[in-house]
Amino acid sequence: MILGIETSCDETAVALVTQDGEVRSNVVASQAELHARYGGVVPEVASRRHLELVGPVLSEALERGKATLDEVEAVAVTRGPGLIGALLVGLSAAKALAWSRRLPLIPVDHLHGHVASLYLEPGALEPPFLCLLVSGGHTLLLDVRARSGYHVVGTTLDDAAGEAFDKGARLLGLGYPGGAALDRKARDGDPDAYSFPVARVPGFDFSFSGLKTALLYVVRDLPADELERRRADLAASYQHAIVRALVERTRAAAMELGGQPIAVVGGVGANSELRAALADATLAPLPLCTDNAVMIASAARYAPAIPFPQYLALDAYATAA
Ligand code: KG4
Ligand code: ZN
Repeated sequence: MILGIETSCDETAVALVTQDGEVRSNVVASQAELHARYGGVVPEVASRRHLELVGPVLSEALERGKATLDEVEAVAVTRGPGLIGALLVGLSAAKALAWSRRLPLIPVDHLHGHVASLYLEPGALEPPFLCLLVSGGHTLLLDVRARSGYHVVGTTLDDAAGEAFDKGARLLGLGYPGGAALDRKARDGDPDAYSFPVARVPGFDFSFSGLKTALLYVVRDLPADELERRRADLAASYQHAIVRALVERTRAAAMELGGQPIAVVGGVGANSELRAALADATLAPLPLCTDNAVMIASAARYAPAIPFPQYLALDAYATAA
């Protein structure tokens, strides 16, 4: 059994996963409410909260998995990318736990973790496939040939898709974090009410900053009562533009790569319009789209372990190497 720890942003998460990819427990403590009043994640506040939560969340994961530490064979932990202070809390907890039990430590890349949310039972996905990874920090098209890694074929030139959702939600007064709220609002609106531009950049890359600016101009020019009345239409049209851009690029890349099957992972993978538009693809299970530790423990099954006690000086990284 692998115990996974994830603290790269504002979720404190611990999970238990077997070597065969069965999920024994999945505990996620979200700090979203704590950061809502600031309109975004405050790194120092996140680190301090992780410190308070990591112990209780760990106990809860063992309890819900009806397991003891004696059954844990390896400790997996997110090493990066993410907020450095937040990452260090999880990494330190993982080192302490692994060291005290003389266990190996498996450092995991957060993005590899998102992809590995597809490798769990029942119905684990087998490469090759083209993976659309859409989160708050990344928008990537990955050519996945083996479970141990991937090759990047496309990325965003500016904002990530989740960032576009969050910024749009903020402009529409839908609070933080905005993706899920915008998704809900869009259900009552007309996706064709407004025509927002989808930037076409060369290759398989994405660009979302123009879209956000277009929404800003529309919102700025609307009187307050009119904005109130058109909020759902604006949300639906804005979401439609993001989803269309994601789907078009992903389908084109899949064709180019010889008709590879498509898979979707990451927080924006929870979006209802995206899931409907790519219903023929493999979609990460809803609870595993946003950050969690199940995906980290899952990725650890395909990553090298560091034997006891060689990991004590291991460092976290904020951005991908
Ligand atoms: O993967 P994730 O939990 O964290 C990162 O690694 O960044 O992704 C978080 C992002 C946020 O931007 C959030 O607004 C977005 O995923 N998100 C959504 C939905 N649920 C979460 N975006 C659109 N529709 C949703 N239903
Ligand atoms: Zn993530």
